[in-house]
Amino acid sequence: FLFSCHMQRLFICAALILSICHACSCMSVENVLYVNCEKVTVYRPTQLIPPASSLYHLNFQNNFLIILYPNSFLNFTHAVSLQLGNNKLQNIEGGAFMGMSALKQLHLNNNELKVLRADTFQGIENLEYLQADYNLIKYIEKGAFNKLHRLKVLILNDNLIQALPDNIFRFASLTHLDIRGNRIQKIPYLGVLEHIGRIVELQLDDNPWNCTCDLAPLKAWLENMPYNIFIGEAICETPSDLYGRLLKETNKQELCPMGTGSDFDVRMPPPDNGQSPSKMSPTSIYGNGIVAGLPPFGRNSQIISVQTRPPPMLCPQPCSCKAHPSDFGISVSCQERNIQNLADLLPKPPNAKKLHMSGNYIRDISPVDFQGFEGLDLLHLGSNQIVTVQKGVFSNLTNLRRLYLNGNQLEQLHPEMFLGLTNLQYLYLEYNAIKEILAGTFDSMPNLQLLYLNNNVLRSLPAYTFAGVSLARLNLKNNHFMTLPVSGVLDQLRSLTQIDLEGNPWECSCDLVALKLWLEKLSDGVAAKEVKCASPVQFSNIELRLLKNEILCPKLVARPPFILTAATPVLTTVLPTGVGKAPPGGPVPLSIMILSILVVLIFTVFVAFCLLVFVLRRNKKPVGRQEVLGNQECGSMSLQVGDSMDATIFYSRGYVFVLGNALWSQRQTLCHLVWITHQ
Ligand SMILES: *[C@@H]1O[C@H](CO)[C@@H](O)[C@H](O)[C@H]1NC(C)=O
Ligand SMILES: *[C@@H]1O[C@H](CO)[C@@H](O)[C@H](O)[C@H]1NC(C)=O
Ligand SMILES: *[C@@H]1O[C@H](CO)[C@@H](O)[C@H](O)[C@H]1NC(C)=O
Repeated sequence: FLFSCHMQRLFICAALILSICHACSCMSVENVLYVNCEKVTVYRPTQLIPPASSLYHLNFQNNFLIILYPNSFLNFTHAVSLQLGNNKLQNIEGGAFMGMSALKQLHLNNNELKVLRADTFQGIENLEYLQADYNLIKYIEKGAFNKLHRLKVLILNDNLIQALPDNIFRFASLTHLDIRGNRIQKIPYLGVLEHIGRIVELQLDDNPWNCTCDLAPLKAWLENMPYNIFIGEAICETPSDLYGRLLKETNKQELCPMGTGSDFDVRMPPPDNGQSPSKMSPTSIYGNGIVAGLPPFGRNSQIISVQTRPPPMLCPQPCSCKAHPSDFGISVSCQERNIQNLADLLPKPPNAKKLHMSGNYIRDISPVDFQGFEGLDLLHLGSNQIVTVQKGVFSNLTNLRRLYLNGNQLEQLHPEMFLGLTNLQYLYLEYNAIKEILAGTFDSMPNLQLLYLNNNVLRSLPAYTFAGVSLARLNLKNNHFMTLPVSGVLDQLRSLTQIDLEGNPWECSCDLVALKLWLEKLSDGVAAKEVKCASPVQFSNIELRLLKNEILCPKLVARPPFILTAATPVLTTVLPTGVGKAPPGGPVPLSIMILSILVVLIFTVFVAFCLLVFVLRRNKKPVGRQEVLGNQECGSMSLQVGDSMDATIFYSRGYVFVLGNALWSQRQTLCHLVWITHQ
């Protein structure tokens, strides 16, 4: 039975139903069963008979699951946790978790979900912990969490959520909410904040907060939260005069210049019946002995505890310090304190995790400035006067995940400035004067996910600059790019979820055809901000995607027989994959072709010259075998190549390839090249 199923390893054993502990590995720890079905792609959950055990954890990570159908886990009534992270889930149909009435933890991280539906969580009313970070979630339907009365921890960071629907948390009892790294611009009090009064940790960082009157309720609410609640920083992205400012440091006048009505003095409702947030220990969700022992997954699922009273701490003179409840670290705030030198920051707190230095007058930074700050997770040096960053300045900050250098006067990025930042995930370099990025600059940061380079003066990027990183988000808005190559630059961005290209003076000519094709190929979830032409005049202000390729590059259709189509099959068989594949049906821009042809021409002349010299030297000795391309293949052109120079020339994407001793069957390609040159 089992044997026959394994025989069909690659097929789904449709008719067979197996006991889960045969198909997967099961391990019992203190009477709790851990069922590990990682990487057993051959089975679907419905083909597995649940364990008889009274409580168990299910791990279905890394199984290439794409869709979950209704009732997928119908008989897994006693599962307390379900890991579905790191699959390819795009769609969870309503009622997929029906029957899992004991489920307390659900992990959906690192999938491709686009929406959380109203009926997604039907049937798992006992859920306490929901993790759905690193998906492509854009929408949460109204009522998605309505039945989840016990939901305490909700992790939604690094998605594409634009807004939280009204009353979304009304029936949940959230203590932890992480919405970092989304596209949220504002959160209203009515309908959202009013329902999360029991929160002990709220992560807001890295959203494009729109600091207008609409955000005044959030600011007021944050100010009213008790001291020991951990709240991440909301940094304004718009309007432009508040860009980069911390929401909490804006004043009422700036947020609401007109004083428009929004009720600013929102009062916190009194914490209900003794369940004041400070007493709600989030560890309680792990502490009941049922879920305890589950290995933590993702950066957020570490066991978190709240300090009710901060320990006495050292704090540098002009700054204020705050204990950081989720990791016992200290957050040092020195914004806008007229600091000129980082070395002045004394005494240094022993366990600083965040150092906010924005809005000061720092010009130079040196490696010794960060002695004693090796544990930093976040370093904010935005809005200072840094012109250059010397070699290895950050080299001891190996724990750093977020680095803000926005709003300085950097002009050049070079590989040595980021040495040692092996764990950096977020790098903010916007609003500098960066005009050049040297090759290899990002190579020392293999974990980089987000790179903001907007509002600089970049015109080009070096080839393979993104080859060593797997960026999810790249912002190149408001630079001076007129074109951007796909080959070697954009095609290196293989993990992209968002790219911003707007506000550049794109020159909509043949060079941009490749970019247009690339943008069209980006997968559905990737949000690409609009690319508008600046030149030539007839296209100015028109979106690139609205222009047909033939209009963008009329020359492409002028001589249809010679658009490389004859050559491409040859190329793809000869070249290593990935180098020479022309986009399917996508013609190579003529400008590139002309360039290639020029090179070919020069090469031909060179060959002819060499041949001539060769012949002369031999003093009329018979020349070796000559290859003459027949008239019927090449029109009126013929080409001579001697034995010693036996070579084939072909081109792709702007490169000319010369293969010695290659097959002469490719001369057809050569003929076309020569013919076009002649024309
Ligand atoms: C669940 O169990 C019932 C009865 O034990 C059985 O008839 C049914 O086929 C099972 N459903 C699934 C999806 O395994
Ligand atoms: C920010 O909010 C204001 C007022 O609601 C609105 O007019 C503006 O368009 C918003 N900005 C962005 C970038 O959405
Ligand atoms: C960096 O760390 C190493 C090892 O801990 C230490 O020897 C070195 O002095 C540090 N460098 C600086 C500039 O602090």
